[in-house]
Amino acid sequence: ARDWNGIEQVVLRVPRGASAKVSLHGGQVISWKNERGEELLFTSSKAIFKPPKAMRGGIPICFPQFGNCGSLEQHGFARNKVWSIDDDPPTLHSNDSNGKVFVDLLLKPMEDDLKCWPHCFEFRLRVSLSMDGNLTLISRIRNINGKQFSFSIAYHTYFSVSNISEVRVEGLETLDYLDNLCQRERFTEQGDAITFESEVDRIYLGTPNVVAVLDHEKKRTFVIRKEGLPDMVLWNPWEKKSKSMLDLGDDEYKQMLCVDAAAIERPITLKTGEEWTGRLEISAVPSSYCSDH
Ligand code: BG6
Repeated sequence: ARDWNGIEQVVLRVPRGASAKVSLHGGQVISWKNERGEELLFTSSKAIFKPPKAMRGGIPICFPQFGNCGSLEQHGFARNKVWSIDDDPPTLHSNDSNGKVFVDLLLKPMEDDLKCWPHCFEFRLRVSLSMDGNLTLISRIRNINGKQFSFSIAYHTYFSVSNISEVRVEGLETLDYLDNLCQRERFTEQGDAITFESEVDRIYLGTPNVVAVLDHEKKRTFVIRKEGLPDMVLWNPWEKKSKSMLDLGDDEYKQMLCVDAAAIERPITLKTGEEWTGRLEISAVPSSYCSDH
C-alpha cells in the first residue's frame, strides 16, 4: 500500500486476524490491531501524514537523540526520514523469525545527513507480528566506519486507552526518574502503581524488562517486554499542552498514553564495526488474564 504522499506502507497480517501497518516514513508503526480488529495504538484525528514530520501516533522512533537536549532536531532525525526495505538483512536469532510475519527496514545516512550527524551507521529495524498478535520491534544499529559515536533511542509508543484517568502503570514503583517538566531533575517515585491526574513527562531509570499498562475501563492490559532498553518514558500532555499542539485534538490526551522503551540516561556508544540490539515486544491481553496468572 501507499499513503497519500506516495510513501510505501507495509501491512503485516496473521491468519487469526491481527495486523500491523508500518510506514517507510520514519519506519513508524502506524497501526496495530488485535484479532477482533480493534486498534491498539492511538492516532490523533488531527495527525498530519506528511513528511518531514512524524505523524502524531503509532510508534515513532526517536534516534539518535531523545527530546531536545542535544544539537539535533527534537527526538532526532530517524522518525522524519524515508527508510527502505531491507531485502537481505543479516540473520537474526531464530526465535525472532519463527512463526512470525515480519518486514525488515533499513536507514542509512545520505550525504546531506552527515552534515548534521557525521557518523556512518546502518539502522536495521525488524517489525514482526506473532501468530497470537504480539508486536515486536528489533533495532540493530551498527557503526560501519569511522570514529565511535553515541546515541539515545526510544520507541515512542502511543497506546490507545479508554480514558487516561482509568489507567495504571505497574512496574515503575520506587524507581528514580528524570522529570522533563523540571529540566530533567531527578526524583524518586513514591507509592504504588502510577496513575494520571495531570501532565506527565518522565524518564524512569533502570526499569524492569516487563512493565504493564492496565486499562480498567477496557479491561485490557498492555504488557511491555524489552531488552537492551533500560529506561522508560511516560508521557501524557494533558489539557493545556494538548491545546497548544496543532496535531492533537484538545481532548485527545484522554485516549492516549505514551510509554517508551528507551536508552536515554546513558547513551549507547559504538566503535567501528560494533553493533547494538534493542528489542521491544508488546502484547494486549484481557485484564482478567493478568490477575488470574
Ligand atoms: C515526549 C517528550 O516523549 O515526546 C515530550 O518527553 C514531548 O517532551 C513529546 O513533548 C512529543 O514530542 P513531539 O516532538 O513528537 O511533539
